[in-house]
Amino acid sequence: MKVNAGGILDPKDVVGRDRLIQKLWRILKRRSLVLSAERRMGKTCVIRKMVAESPEDKLCFFRDLEGIETSFEFVQALFQDVEKHLATKKRISHRTRKLLENLGGAKFEGFTMPQIAAPHWKDLLTRIIQDLQDHQEHMVVFFWDEFPMMLQAIQQRENEQAAMEVLNILRFLRQTHPRIRMVFSGSIGLHNVITHFKRRSFANEPINDMHRQDLPPLTLKAAKSLASQLIRDEQVPTQNEIIVSKAIAEAVDCIPYYLQNVIEKAVIDDQKLSVETVEKIVTQGLIHPLDAWDMRHYRERISVYYSEEEKFYALAILDVLAQVSVPLHFDTLFNLVKSRFVTEDIEMLHLVLKLLTQDHYLLQNTEGSYHFKFPLIQRWWKLDRGITQ
Ligand SMILES: Nc1ncnc2c1ncn2[C@@H]1O[C@H](COP(=O)(O)OP(=O)(O)OP(=O)(O)O)[C@@H](O)[C@H]1O
Ligand SMILES: [Mg+2]
Repeated sequence: MKVNAGGILDPKDVVGRDRLIQKLWRILKRRSLVLSAERRMGKTCVIRKMVAESPEDKLCFFRDLEGIETSFEFVQALFQDVEKHLATKKRISHRTRKLLENLGGAKFEGFTMPQIAAPHWKDLLTRIIQDLQDHQEHMVVFFWDEFPMMLQAIQQRENEQAAMEVLNILRFLRQTHPRIRMVFSGSIGLHNVITHFKRRSFANEPINDMHRQDLPPLTLKAAKSLASQLIRDEQVPTQNEIIVSKAIAEAVDCIPYYLQNVIEKAVIDDQKLSVETVEKIVTQGLIHPLDAWDMRHYRERISVYYSEEEKFYALAILDVLAQVSVPLHFDTLFNLVKSRFVTEDIEMLHLVLKLLTQDHYLLQNTEGSYHFKFPLIQRWWKLDRGITQ
């Protein structure tokens, strides 16, 4: 296995996810799924592996929706995926094509829908799913990566109503076709996009029928084994392979992307790995001027998705928590935030803590206290914000 930091992995090189994948299939037996996680945690790797190694009694479609900017483009993409599959069975989407013929006034034999059909995207979407169901006894699973990014693009290119309608019609299709499942995944949290709609009063719960699953980092055992395998296959010299693999896994909180980055750096620089050099590589990755480890989104996300007031609180909370090595109880946290600026708005603190937890910055422990979810991100936050203590 060769190092591949950030690229598309061969499914067999996606390690340590077998148990989780089995769990996801068990969930999908019952209902659809939103797979969320911090960026670079390995969501795309997991869903691509699921599609590549899917059980025989499931028909799976994978589509990266990045770049799709209108509801009609989404329907077009779905049409092409479904038609490609039906063609393997020497079938076509009869109902969909009939509507396209009625709209265009001529026989429709292509795969690119005419623009005249755009206002009818909902009807077309419903028909595509019906056409697929006509020829399918098994469960169908649509894996849609970067789904929230598409919704956001639709909202910007069309409007919020259109994005909300996409969510609503997909929910309707899940309810009317019991053998259809959808998996939404992506680098932006779906909740960020939906909360944005809600602020503008589209307050319904378009995904509350779906199971929400967080993708955790690898287990320590899997992370150590991935590090060892890469060290061996890339012939990276080490002081002691077992000790170094453990040091890498622990230094990157078992997040496979950063793990791959550490070993890639050693390969590129032709460097011998020891506990000390691992530590040095991690620090260099965190402070890299060109953001080689893709960390800046931790700061940028707050500016993009949080309101001005929420942003103010979020930065204060994270700055306070970055400085401490123990979890903080709500009251202590509130007092420390108050020592930074004048506030008595306890509700705002509750709300922003919820947002930061949902966005994977923080965790609440069983005693109710808050701390950074990942020590690595806490470390980055301190470095980025120039916090010295
Ligand atoms: N299970 C794994 N085994 C080995 N490497 C992995 C694994 N999961 C992720 N990686 C590494 O992390 C990188 C990022 O993974 P992936 O693209 O799946 O993350 P993601 O969660 O989809 O990220 P984003 O939120 O940016 O879309 C991969 O290119 C690979 O280097
Ligand atoms: Mg991804």
